Amino acid sequence: MAARQTQFWLRAGGSLRGEARVPGDKSISHRAVMLAALARGRSRIRGWLAAGDTDATLGAMQSLGAQIERVDANTLLIDGGPLQEPPAALDLKNAGTGIRLLAGLLAGQPFASALDGSAQLRRRPMKRITAPLQLMGAAIEAVDGCCPLTITPSALRGITYAMPIASAQVKSAILLAGLHADSPTTVLQPGPARDHTERMLRSMGARLDAAGNRLTIYPCAELSPLDTYVPGDVSSAAFLMVAALLAPGSQLTIRGVNLNPTRTGLLDALREMGADVRLNNVDEQAGEPIGDILARHSHLKGIQIGGETVVRMIDEFPILMVAALHAEGETIVRDARELRVKETDRIAVMAGELRKLGAVIEEREDGFRILGPQTLSGGQVDGHDDHRIAMSLTIAGMTSAEGALVTDAACAGDSFPGFAATLQGLGARLVAT
Ligand code: S3P
Repeated sequence: MAARQTQFWLRAGGSLRGEARVPGDKSISHRAVMLAALARGRSRIRGWLAAGDTDATLGAMQSLGAQIERVDANTLLIDGGPLQEPPAALDLKNAGTGIRLLAGLLAGQPFASALDGSAQLRRRPMKRITAPLQLMGAAIEAVDGCCPLTITPSALRGITYAMPIASAQVKSAILLAGLHADSPTTVLQPGPARDHTERMLRSMGARLDAAGNRLTIYPCAELSPLDTYVPGDVSSAAFLMVAALLAPGSQLTIRGVNLNPTRTGLLDALREMGADVRLNNVDEQAGEPIGDILARHSHLKGIQIGGETVVRMIDEFPILMVAALHAEGETIVRDARELRVKETDRIAVMAGELRKLGAVIEEREDGFRILGPQTLSGGQVDGHDDHRIAMSLTIAGMTSAEGALVTDAACAGDSFPGFAATLQGLGARLVAT
């Protein structure tokens, strides 16, 4: 495997022109490898994201006995079947989706397991999944509400659970546990969190009823195998798209991107800000909407974001902050408290790092306020081992007056391997070392 680049130098100027593809969707890739391992028979997954987070999930599924053949970096053949007791604690590294979904999947298995991860993952809240799983009868324990998690075998019962937060990870953990419960399980979602788990489970033969924000999963002893193609990750496309909107002279097409409406909140927000963003060749592939994104340099204006849009763009706020700094007028984000418990506290960390480049940002408990347009001077910033922070700061550096050095940038590879090379290929003045 290529050495992980640890810092990116950005020289000021440069525009993005041409065409790009982004790696496969991270959320779908986690789910595909987990569910294929559970299915009876051989699954084929093309376009799979080979990256830090998803490799951690793949390793965990191998430890659980799944036979996984890597035809090439992005094509997996998986012979699923009954899972087996892992020989040691599963290491999910930095992958929050990996650990939370797997906890749900393992809660109803007839063997004991333990799930752990990096120092960063050990700081993230797990009670949001252990509480509903315990209500289902799972014997799952956390340490002070965080991982390591330990699971001992127990019979699960179906429950009705009103989720206190709109989270696809929590919803998915409950649905996966529900596959092994003694009766149907219902979750009531406060908002429209991403629905990849539901789409994939249905395509594999599970029964799931949906009515508004109410979802019911029925126990299912046997899932059929998957033959699927993972579309490009719209959350990775977001960095290229915003860079193209901000860098004068840019015109960029990003091909084959997942356009699931539970994921496209940033597109809606940017359009409201006046961005010239168009969708072409919109189609459906493997049960997910897909299309090409065309972004041209645009004059942006500030907007207000809150409510249901927040969950549809929850991973895009670090890059939205960069867009807001260059937009004319006030941008206010509300209802985004969840940003504080992502890989890092993304409100505090982004505000702190962007200030090093001369930005003025008002942090709020559940969001932020930015008055633009602002000129980012330049300087040194740090990625904090958080992929979306490192990539957002890279775009901030690209749009600064003097350029920037982003340290601790290797984490970009947790979701977007080849990020630096993709930007370079499109015309960014970036050196990775
Ligand atoms: C994800 C759900 C989101 C998102 C994360 C991926 C998923 O987390 O932030 O990057 O794949 O289910 P929450 O469900 O905790 O909001």
